[in-house]
Amino acid sequence: MLGKIVSYDWTENSVVLNGESFSIYIDILSNDIVNIAASRGERPGHSQAVVMNRQNAELQVEENDGYIDIYTASFRLRVSIEDSIMEINDGKGLLLKGMDLNLVDDDRSCSLNIREGEHFYGLGEKTGFLDKKGYRYTMWNTDCYDTHTEGTDAMYESFPFYIGFNRSGCYGIYFDNTFRTYFDMGKTDPERVRFGAEHGPMSFFFIYGRDIKDVVKGYTEVTGRMDMPPLWALGYQQSKYSYYPQDRVVELAKSFREKDIPADVIYLDIHYMNGFRVFTFDKERFPDPKAMIDELKEMGFKVVTIIDPGLKADGSYSVFVEGLKNHYFVTDKNGLPFTGKVWPGLTCLPDFSRDDVKRWWGDNHKEFIEMGIAGIWNDMNEPAVMDTPTRTMPEDMVHQNNGKPIRHEEFHNVYALNMAMATKDALLRFRPNERPFILTRAAFSGIQRYAAVWTGDNRSYWEHLKMSMPMLLNIGLSGEPFCGADIGGFTDDCSEELLIRWTQLGVFYPFCRNHNGLESKDQEPWAFGRRAEDITREFIKLRYRLLPYMYNLFYEANTTGIPVMRPLIMEYPGDEMCAEVFDEFMLGESILVAPVYEPGKRVKEVYLPEGRWIAWWTGEEYQGGRYYLVDAPLDRMPIFIKAGAVLPMARPMKSTSDGMVTEFHIFPGAMSGEYVYYEDDCHTLNYMNGEYNLYRISYSKGAEAADIKVEKLYYGYSEGQRQFQVVLRGEKNIEKVRVNGQAAEPVARDGDVIVDMTI
Ligand code: GLC
Repeated sequence: MLGKIVSYDWTENSVVLNGESFSIYIDILSNDIVNIAASRGERPGHSQAVVMNRQNAELQVEENDGYIDIYTASFRLRVSIEDSIMEINDGKGLLLKGMDLNLVDDDRSCSLNIREGEHFYGLGEKTGFLDKKGYRYTMWNTDCYDTHTEGTDAMYESFPFYIGFNRSGCYGIYFDNTFRTYFDMGKTDPERVRFGAEHGPMSFFFIYGRDIKDVVKGYTEVTGRMDMPPLWALGYQQSKYSYYPQDRVVELAKSFREKDIPADVIYLDIHYMNGFRVFTFDKERFPDPKAMIDELKEMGFKVVTIIDPGLKADGSYSVFVEGLKNHYFVTDKNGLPFTGKVWPGLTCLPDFSRDDVKRWWGDNHKEFIEMGIAGIWNDMNEPAVMDTPTRTMPEDMVHQNNGKPIRHEEFHNVYALNMAMATKDALLRFRPNERPFILTRAAFSGIQRYAAVWTGDNRSYWEHLKMSMPMLLNIGLSGEPFCGADIGGFTDDCSEELLIRWTQLGVFYPFCRNHNGLESKDQEPWAFGRRAEDITREFIKLRYRLLPYMYNLFYEANTTGIPVMRPLIMEYPGDEMCAEVFDEFMLGESILVAPVYEPGKRVKEVYLPEGRWIAWWTGEEYQGGRYYLVDAPLDRMPIFIKAGAVLPMARPMKSTSDGMVTEFHIFPGAMSGEYVYYEDDCHTLNYMNGEYNLYRISYSKGAEAADIKVEKLYYGYSEGQRQFQVVLRGEKNIEKVRVNGQAAEPVARDGDVIVDMTI
């Protein structure tokens, strides 16, 4: 408890409450978002995660019976003058009581009451299930190679953000502290949630929302949203530690084409390098990388290379020598470069807290980018160090921080964020007007502005397949929509059935990559024989069919922050049954995916929320609001489409380099419906200058006739697709179709009715 407030002061958008030895700063950023900070000294600033500018919003302040009442347009924040305890009330059901700030020496924290029936979501990359209530979590980027299990707490990524949700209201809290932080979601005291840190600022953003979507929108206003990804990065990706030599990489690409399995990307893991020196190629293994890249490009493949931060401490390695000469490395307090063991042996780590080091790091990518490397994979960037007890650098190492030195404990969690900034900047500088693609293992809030994430070294275990669902759902809720887990599992050996089931799920991950460990059994789609190859091919093809829909979801993420892969509760906040469902999810608002995650299972219990649903494989209609036991033979993972949905789907392709030709599929089960379709060139930044299109496709239909309408909501991209097929699925009896009021000529095919439409 901070204690009594002795004076206060306010302007139209901020209030300062002063105690004897502390101040509380309340800043309004929008009607729904306030920054609350407390300190015994200077007012805390914001971390690099925060990008929000103040919007046009005002505070009103009143003093009432021992309270200072601060009103935004959305809620009242009441502060007790006697003890500084706060309460938030929206007057519509959301009531947060007992918000208590602490500024003790080694504990700056905030606790508040857990509400009745409350669920907690978010918190980024954590093990366990969807609802985080009752657990305690640490935010400290950690290489957890050998401990990626359910009991693992700190993992590679830190998102100090959670969502509190119950039937009467929703809110989010982003704790803007880059040091090691903790979130006790009712573990120590089942009545209270508490978040805090030993060091760093007590500053958090309170985000009010009418529902979970609203809170995620607000949180991504604070920490930013992802740019549109290049379409190719949504394709299927194949990786192994490591594919080499050069000929094997080309063979791999050929196998995909020969076997008619669509794919877009091949990854080069650390063995492409000369002795694990980043920015180099091993001349024997890769005698002509440029020729390889060109050959792969001809086949419709992109290449992504891994880049680790640790530079081999080697006097004959020019990048290292340059870094040393310019004092670009993290040092101890005496100014001596820190050295730690990573893949190449002893390494030094660039000090990404400095702008000049970031620029230099970026410059080192020039050759790779100009050679045609399409994207960069940042790994070991927690940073992982193999020969220290903490598996990272000691907390008292020093980062220069552009002239304001700080200890590693402050920079640790944002090391990878800054490495990604440097990498993105390089991709934009050396390949202007192409959308950058970066994949990172470690992360902090705000990473969505720079990179996609994957969940690190999982294993080829059924439990890890299962865990990937809630983990990715919570990463999505934490503002990072572009996420995935290694399909097939990284370490240990995959099996035929596991690969099949994991691929069935994985093609619905926003980031879809099969990655495999050094000593693990091969797990390419064909590695387990014909049956697995046929089934995985069908599912990978399904991903490509759904790419326009998926791409549109990325547009939604780009404009609202709402994730691509969503928990059921996000779409159905009124349905308490959805609150803890972790083993089904929504892809956008129209596709429900129900993966099978146990061996030998040939049925799946599926909860369908209210409304009607169409089974993907059979076209059968289901009434929602209950559980079903759905057939799930090995070659069928249950998928349901919301009745009446319009899904943009692509014609089959071998990779996105074929170009995406979109068709609109109207699903049965409703008399009318609509969909807003986004279109741009799929790879440049021109969409940022308005070069995109937005169309509204709507329909109404009866038993024998249908009316389809297209409206241009926005038209800024003239090279878009003009001719579209519209497929009325499962409509044998429709004979008359009008498109924009004109009679069209419907064609019947396999129980569907198809018409052409020109935009
Ligand atoms: C780390 C990464 C893994 C990669 C390996 C070798 O373990 O998490 O994905 O394959 O390093 O670079």
